[in-house]
Amino acid sequence: MRYAKLSSMERTFVMLKPGVLQRRIVGEVLNRLERKGLKIIALKMLKIDKSMGAAHYAEHSGKDFYDKLLAYTTSGPVIAMILEADGVIGRVRRLVGATNINESLPGTIRGDFAGSTQLNIIHASDSPASAEREMALFFTNTEIFDWEDGNAQWF
Ligand code: PPS
Repeated sequence: MRYAKLSSMERTFVMLKPGVLQRRIVGEVLNRLERKGLKIIALKMLKIDKSMGAAHYAEHSGKDFYDKLLAYTTSGPVIAMILEADGVIGRVRRLVGATNINESLPGTIRGDFAGSTQLNIIHASDSPASAEREMALFFTNTEIFDWEDGNAQWF
């Protein structure tokens, strides 16, 4: 059972991969999400071990990029978060942009910051089912803050 929600707003899971810390752009990427009015209800830095990485990327097991994806994601700390807003899963995916750097448009996070498809800088849930699974994998109920939003009408 998840922490009781004040609203019926949608939630999504986002992870800034190790390259974001290496490149000192955590603040810039977070700013993209926050200035859009998305509500951060959980945020932490952690190092993912192989088994957690394998659980997170289970759907990609067997793909040619899987081993490198796992090695990269477990190579250093990541910044994990849960965002809440109306339609947040689709909105974050649009802000993030296409996975392939040859297709990610300027103005998107990947379009502006990612220089490699392999060393991608950000992960965002692609469906309500993925969001639920990923939030539960990374966060306990006590790490999620259902704070009252006095500015909700602006967003
Ligand atoms: S796909 O191709 O439909 O499986 O792509 P997607 O579902 O968007 O997510 C793939 C994740 O693997 C990372 N990755 C790569 N994808 C495609 N090609 C290559 N070469 C590759 N290398 C790594 C990609 O960044 C996605 O990671 P997440 O963390 O899910 O964004």
